[in-house]
Amino acid sequence: MVSNVAPHLAELEPEDFHLLSGIEQGMRFSEWVAREKLPEFSRLTAEDVDYRLDRCEDRDLVERKTIQYTGFRLTFEGYDALALHTFAERETIEGVGSSLGVGKESDVYEVRSYKPLALKYHREGYTNFREVMREREYTADREHVSWLYTARKAAEREYTALEDLYPGVSVPRPVDHNRHAIIMERMDGVELSRTKLEPGQVRPVLDLILQEVASAYEGGYVHADMSEYNVFVGEDGVTIFDWPQAVETDHENAAELLQRDVENIIGYFERKYPSQTDDIDPSACARAIENGTFESVTA
Ligand SMILES: Nc1ncnc2c1ncn2[C@@H]1O[C@H](COP(=O)(O)OP(=O)(O)OP(=O)(O)O)[C@@H](O)[C@H]1O
Ligand SMILES: [Mg+2]
Repeated sequence: MVSNVAPHLAELEPEDFHLLSGIEQGMRFSEWVAREKLPEFSRLTAEDVDYRLDRCEDRDLVERKTIQYTGFRLTFEGYDALALHTFAERETIEGVGSSLGVGKESDVYEVRSYKPLALKYHREGYTNFREVMREREYTADREHVSWLYTARKAAEREYTALEDLYPGVSVPRPVDHNRHAIIMERMDGVELSRTKLEPGQVRPVLDLILQEVASAYEGGYVHADMSEYNVFVGEDGVTIFDWPQAVETDHENAAELLQRDVENIIGYFERKYPSQTDDIDPSACARAIENGTFESVTA
């Protein structure tokens, strides 16, 4: 469980951020950054480095380990602090509010701005190790793939998908992106998993979802993790979110992933509303989406 760093932010001084970003730079080369390297990376004197290390360690923004040498690394909280500081400097956000959700691989908070927005910190990296090994590009130490890199890549992928799909597809409007964090429009409504639809709404809502899947496909993407937990249902319709694992439609597994997405959604409706959905053929829907001919399951 990663704690919310926002309350600490006001206590931090500009030099604390120099230190944190110095450690971040050092972590490109090794997981634990030697103390001796930090004055150079952070452009602080050795004395100031020691002072700042203590301050940041007290706030759980950095961790220390002594093997042959004393090394430091950022914690997720330290990385969160850097991203938050950047958003505040860019005036993207004015403050962080309460938690909106904790995913398997993310923490989502409400943020205050000119309107309510959502901040998603990506937490991939402890689990997605192998995938990153394949597409690694920037870590110098061959054995070392930093979770910073994995989480940052996931945020980049999600942000790119949102930018490519919005507004043609009903996804949260992307607002800003830095490191492993993205800022997007805060969605209204509740997760599909928590809704109980009236009989007359079942097929129309399933239709809306499949139409968004079809629009996303037209826009070049397969979501690849479609489920009742990644769809919001609100007054204005449905929103499909959580896009870091999306693949482009020319990806070798795109057809298979599309089929699985469609099966997942229709399967959910079939389990929850069996009498109203037992005539729908997921394979036919997936093929229609691929061919650009999907219209409705209501006809
Ligand atoms: N833009 C948003 N507005 C409001 N709530 C949001 C927003 N984005 C995410 N949430 C909330 O945060 C939760 C986690 O978000 P998301 O599904 O994107 O993360 P995740 O870690 O990939 O989830 P999982 O892997 O568990 O599906 C969501 O279920 C939702 O309740
Ligand atoms: Mg999710």
